[in-house]
Amino acid sequence: MSYNVLADKDKISELILKYNLALDLLETQLNMIIKEFEFKNKYNPVEHIKSRLKSESSALEKLEKKGYDITIENLKNHIHDMVGIRIVCSFISDVYDIVNIIKNSKQFKIKSEKDYIENPKDTGYISYHMIVLVPIYFNDNIEYIEAEIQIRTIAMDFWASLDHKIQYKFPEETPKSVKEELYDCSLVIQALDRKMYQLNENVKNSNNL
Ligand code: GTP
Ligand code: MG
Repeated sequence: MSYNVLADKDKISELILKYNLALDLLETQLNMIIKEFEFKNKYNPVEHIKSRLKSESSALEKLEKKGYDITIENLKNHIHDMVGIRIVCSFISDVYDIVNIIKNSKQFKIKSEKDYIENPKDTGYISYHMIVLVPIYFNDNIEYIEAEIQIRTIAMDFWASLDHKIQYKFPEETPKSVKEELYDCSLVIQALDRKMYQLNENVKNSNNL
């Protein structure tokens, strides 16, 4: 199945154009506020940033998986990560710096947020998620496009990427033993992140350890 099943292909093209604009705008705005933070604090909390537009096929797959009919309305209402940005940092403290930079910026409206660092998922997944509304300005109106921002450490990213590969390998159901191993890895990652943060703080606060 594809969007071709929908009568109005023009509407889909228009929507995809808007998602593209929102992605460009969001990247630019994020870069600006992070540069401003770096200028003021002489420190850049970002290791790297990745962005992507969700493909048509995975959007449809997700809609079907969630049990919704394939319509533009359902796409708009139930897929919140057509526009996605992932900000990867070194330390947990950097993750929260970024969260605060975004929260304090007047450029973004935050629709929702989930702190899976404070409250990891049952799988062991750890990250900070925000859904923001990116304003797109047209001649006669403003439209708000949703975008998902995932903020995590390098260690959390390492875990999530292995988890993703494993999910791909077992599309039906991941074997219990593999799930358990992954969960254990998450605990190790969480402990490592705390240790790396503490070591970094100790080194910062002392010239002579
Ligand atoms: P959707 O899953 O996007 O429908 O919404 P939700 O409300 O469940 O959002 P959630 O914040 O839980 O997850 C959104 C995104 O986070 C996913 O699309 C993944 O990119 C990522 N994510 C969430 N859980 C996991 C997980 O267990 N493993 C991995 N690798 N990624 C995850
Ligand atoms: Mg989910």
